[in-house]
Amino acid sequence: MCKENSTKAGISVGKVISLNEVKSGIFHLILKTELVHKNQSVPQSGQFYMLRSSISKVLLARPISVYSCKTQDNFVFVEFLILLKGQGTKELCNLKIDDSVEMTGPLGNTFPLPQEDLQNADEVKIAIIGGGIGVAPVAGFSTNLKPHTYDFYACFKSFSYGLENVKAKNLVITTDDGTEGIKGMLPSVFTADDIKQKNYSVVYACGPEPMLKYVQKVCLEAGITCYLSMEQRMACGLGACLGCTITTTEGNKRCCKDGPVFEGSKLIFSEKKPMERKEKVDNPDLSVNISGVKFENPVIAASGTFGFGTEFQDVIDVNLLGGICSKGLTLEPKPGNTGIRLQETPSGLINSIGLENPGIKVFIEKKLPTMMELKPVAIANLSGSSIETYVEGAKLLDKTEVPMIELNISCPNVKAGGMAFGLDPQAAFEVTNAVRKATSKPLIVKLSPNAPDLKAIAFSVIKAGANAISLVNTFQAMAIDIEKEQFIFDNIKAGLAGPAIKPIALRMVYDICYAIKTLPKEQQVPVIGLGGISTWQDAVEFILAGADAIQIGTSIFANPNCIKEIINGISAWMARKGYSKIEEFKGKMIFN
Ligand SMILES: Cc1cc2nc3c(=O)[nH]c(=O)nc-3n(C[C@H](O)[C@H](O)[C@H](O)COP(=O)(O)OP(=O)(O)OC[C@H]3O[C@@H](n4cnc5c(N)ncnc54)[C@H](O)[C@@H]3O)c2cc1C
Ligand SMILES: Cc1cc2nc3c(=O)[nH]c(=O)nc-3n(C[C@H](O)[C@H](O)[C@H](O)COP(=O)(O)O)c2cc1C
Ligand code: FES
Repeated sequence: MCKENSTKAGISVGKVISLNEVKSGIFHLILKTELVHKNQSVPQSGQFYMLRSSISKVLLARPISVYSCKTQDNFVFVEFLILLKGQGTKELCNLKIDDSVEMTGPLGNTFPLPQEDLQNADEVKIAIIGGGIGVAPVAGFSTNLKPHTYDFYACFKSFSYGLENVKAKNLVITTDDGTEGIKGMLPSVFTADDIKQKNYSVVYACGPEPMLKYVQKVCLEAGITCYLSMEQRMACGLGACLGCTITTTEGNKRCCKDGPVFEGSKLIFSEKKPMERKEKVDNPDLSVNISGVKFENPVIAASGTFGFGTEFQDVIDVNLLGGICSKGLTLEPKPGNTGIRLQETPSGLINSIGLENPGIKVFIEKKLPTMMELKPVAIANLSGSSIETYVEGAKLLDKTEVPMIELNISCPNVKAGGMAFGLDPQAAFEVTNAVRKATSKPLIVKLSPNAPDLKAIAFSVIKAGANAISLVNTFQAMAIDIEKEQFIFDNIKAGLAGPAIKPIALRMVYDICYAIKTLPKEQQVPVIGLGGISTWQDAVEFILAGADAIQIGTSIFANPNCIKEIINGISAWMARKGYSKIEEFKGKMIFN
């Protein structure tokens, strides 16, 4: 058992001593670490560490409770029970023996021990409750109590774990599906009447928030004290960022520093609207219609990242896609920019390709026929340096079979034209209007996130005859070589794309979808959302935000299989959620 010897936390590197999957998705991890300060505290039940694998892809460490710990010489062996949830816990659950883990801790407060007389009473006065992975800190805490002086209620979805060290007088297990113990949840075995009948005096609990809210309610009804261990998203874990605050009767409290254990009666839980649940569906229909053109699914390869459709053919099945946008095309061939063209950034990519392309005539002759043989809808991405060159290009494309044109008024990498048309509402109107007159093909206008007033640009291009809008193109960015003391790119500025831009792109897509919904019905046009999409979850977010379809660009470079994963992921999500068509959830967040 651990004993506190001071109050200080520290940063240390833990080595993996053992890691086992105790039950499906639940891992038992033992880390060996040094006490870094002379007076550093040894971990106590209730406390937690911020853990991050040393070769991590996530930015923040993850808070994980101390399950148990032993000290030996200057070393601490800390045990954790981890539920594999997302990327951060996946990394922790996939560690190998001797791998390193960055550890900050021990952090937070501990469960207060019950008064001596409660442990020495003739009848059991203490109830401990663990829900799911929340069993870890309370099971650890139970080892601080005399055996058989407490009852332990452990509630799981379908199987129990983490109870090896629990020496309860009565161990009551519930499972939602009845695979172990009593079928049901905590209310089937623990009510205010039970508390009174059993004469409990104090309750300790950790688990999902609805369960803790219930424990608070029944303890208040029965008039006894409860201590609840809370969970909140955390960045620093040290009380500095205020990202983890919890509302209490004494004002905001930091879960990491003032908690995670709080006296239950002081907590104010928020009211959450329950989610409406629908029946599952089989084989949802992923097809979408954009301005009269049918796409088998809403996933389109973004311009400039998928060549002319065949470049990726050897490594993936390109026919899975709903559509493919060609590389940006100009009337005359373009050699593109000189110097470095690519610069990787954290979760992003800055590019300065400069619209290198073979010109529209060569495209029509050599590239389009093959693009048209593929299943995905072919979209010609049209760029230009002046209104005249845009119009000439549009006239040439109009004579072809290409079903759609994406008008690129947003390329940040060319000196003439490109983004310049996408920054000013009047210029955006003029170029769209001129191209509109030059072609009868459905016209998607691709907007620049660098526009000072994106809504004004969107309304201008709609007024000028755009049939759909796509956004975003890349964000203007820069990089400097600090050794050479030179700009990385010959053009100084270039365009940032990739997962780094996703949340901003999503917000912009939402803003434009929202704005479009304020227009009269006959003026409303579909929106294709893009910018940093790398997973099916990202794609679903864009559609919930209002996008009719999505494009994937940079992420295809990192993982060409993401196309298949995204399409399958959207389909599985729809089936699970009971959506049989995309339009049933498209834009749901706008109306929420
Ligand atoms: C004090 C405390 C103790 C915890 N103890 C344990 C434990 O012993 N075992 C265990 O398996 N889990 C524990 N959790 C929950 C654990 O921190 C989250 O499951 C984990 O952060 C999820 O990260 P992810 O990348 O796997 O999941 P994602 O869902 O992808 O995470 C996305 C973001 O949300 C945050 N987040 C998601 N869920 C939670 C959550 N429940 N609590 C806090 N942040 C969350 C993540 O840290 C990350 O920043 C504890 C949380 C807190 C606050
Ligand atoms: C290497 C590269 C080249 C690009 N070329 C074009 C282009 O020719 N025409 C265009 O409209 N957009 C072009 N883009 C922008 C993408 O189509 C997309 O709008 C942007 O990258 C954001 O999406 P993403 O984060 O999924 O990559 C290019 C992007 C990259 C990374
Ligand atoms: S996580 Fe920063 S204040 Fe709690």
